[in-house]
Amino acid sequence: MKFDESFWDERYRQHGSVWSRNPNPSLVAEAASLRPGSALDVGSGEGADSIWLARQGWRVTAVDISSVALARAAERAAEDATVAGRIVWVHHDLTAMPPPAGTFDLVSAQFMHLPLAQRTELYHRLAASVAPGGTFLIVGHHPDDLATGIRRPSQPGLLFTPEEIAAELDPEEWQIDVCEARRRSVRDADGNSVTVTDSVLRAHRRS
Ligand SMILES: C[S@@+](CC[C@H](N)C(=O)[O-])C[C@H]1O[C@@H](n2cnc3c(N)ncnc32)[C@H](O)[C@@H]1O
Repeated sequence: MKFDESFWDERYRQHGSVWSRNPNPSLVAEAASLRPGSALDVGSGEGADSIWLARQGWRVTAVDISSVALARAAERAAEDATVAGRIVWVHHDLTAMPPPAGTFDLVSAQFMHLPLAQRTELYHRLAASVAPGGTFLIVGHHPDDLATGIRRPSQPGLLFTPEEIAAELDPEEWQIDVCEARRRSVRDADGNSVTVTDSVLRAHRRS
């Protein structure tokens, strides 16, 4: 399967809302104590993370490959006058057009799952786009989730451990602050509680 623009547009078109309107819990846990500056929300989807960041005082560049998701996100942001002018919505394929180097105080990629070679290349570029002293936050589904029966991307290589991401960061340049398999409870399609695991990697770039 190809996870391209039409795949994502179709996915968003099929539902009025694909994700919850809440920010991702690991974003809230890891970014709440950071001093707000400029943030890149990678694969911003329906915008809950970008809106939360903007409410905390961040200036957010929200990038997504799906114009359907971006339109929905912008509509939701417009409901909250306090975030007006704080979020720029950008329609890009980040694998074809990575962000500029050394730019953002926070780069957050939440559940951006790509085939291994593409992910490695993109995450390198994302890490490079963090400004000196800035934070790199990667959160994704842990491979342990494949045993839970919950819906997850199933192709090999799409899921990752936090250690795999940490291993790609040069220790001379990066301080790893969090490298954790973090459990949380979700409801499955039948309403049963299931424990899932998120891979959480937070690092900051040495100044
Ligand atoms: C699993 S969703 C996560 C959305 C959001 N981060 C969240 O956690 O709710 C992945 C998002 O990445 C976007 N995406 C996938 N490939 C992309 C690419 N190459 N460039 C930019 N965005 C992409 C999709 O459109 C989708 O909105």
